[in-house]
Amino acid sequence: MCRALLAVFLALALARDCDSVSVPPHEEVARMARFVVHKCDWASMATISTHDPVKGQPFSNAFSISDGPVGNGTGTPYMYLTHMEISVQDLQVNPQASLSVSLAQTHYCKNHGFDPQSPLCAHIILSGSVIQVQDSEVCVAKAALFGRHPEMIDWPTDHSWFFARFNISQVWVLDYFGGVKTVSPEEYYRAAPSRKHSGSDTQ
Ligand SMILES: *[C@@H]1O[C@H](CO)[C@@H](O)[C@H](O)[C@H]1NC(C)=O
Ligand SMILES: *[C@@H]1O[C@H](CO)[C@@H](O)[C@H](O)[C@H]1NC(C)=O
Repeated sequence: MCRALLAVFLALALARDCDSVSVPPHEEVARMARFVVHKCDWASMATISTHDPVKGQPFSNAFSISDGPVGNGTGTPYMYLTHMEISVQDLQVNPQASLSVSLAQTHYCKNHGFDPQSPLCAHIILSGSVIQVQDSEVCVAKAALFGRHPEMIDWPTDHSWFFARFNISQVWVLDYFGGVKTVSPEEYYRAAPSRKHSGSDTQ
């Protein structure tokens, strides 16, 4: 099952067009969040550090993510982690974390002349916790990650890698003007990131 899924997702990953970014209208806040999370292949993750000399302080670090095959994201950011990693050691003590992704990670903001800090260059912040995935979700996580990060397949097996998901408790959307907007996990998962339910997004 895992193998068949992986083959399909690898094919989808190879077929994707990295430059095509069709951004949802800014009024559709939950959809924008789903869109940016799906587009981004990596995220900055802040944990509460357990390491001297910054014990108890925020610690931000880059991680590869995937919420599913290109064009068919689940909304859930999956990660491939090892307890040898410094931030993962923080998560063992306190699984709460914050993940941020931005359209600055695509060509969109540069192409439109939007600075990464501009509210026109959407950034999404997820609050929640990181939890190891179990049972059939391992298959989903593996296909999502290995399809978009094929190099992971060859990462050293003696590092005891495991699959994890970001369990979202709140979504913060910094997009367009008027300050931050929040989206509940329910609204986030209900939203369709791609064009299925709207006719107003030809950009
Ligand atoms: C998208 O993913 C769902 C499961 O999350 C699957 O049932 C469906 O077949 C997939 N669609 C495509 C086009 O791959
Ligand atoms: C996942 O997040 C939800 C919403 O914050 C929370 O109620 C639930 O306890 C979390 N699950 C785990 C396993 O941490």
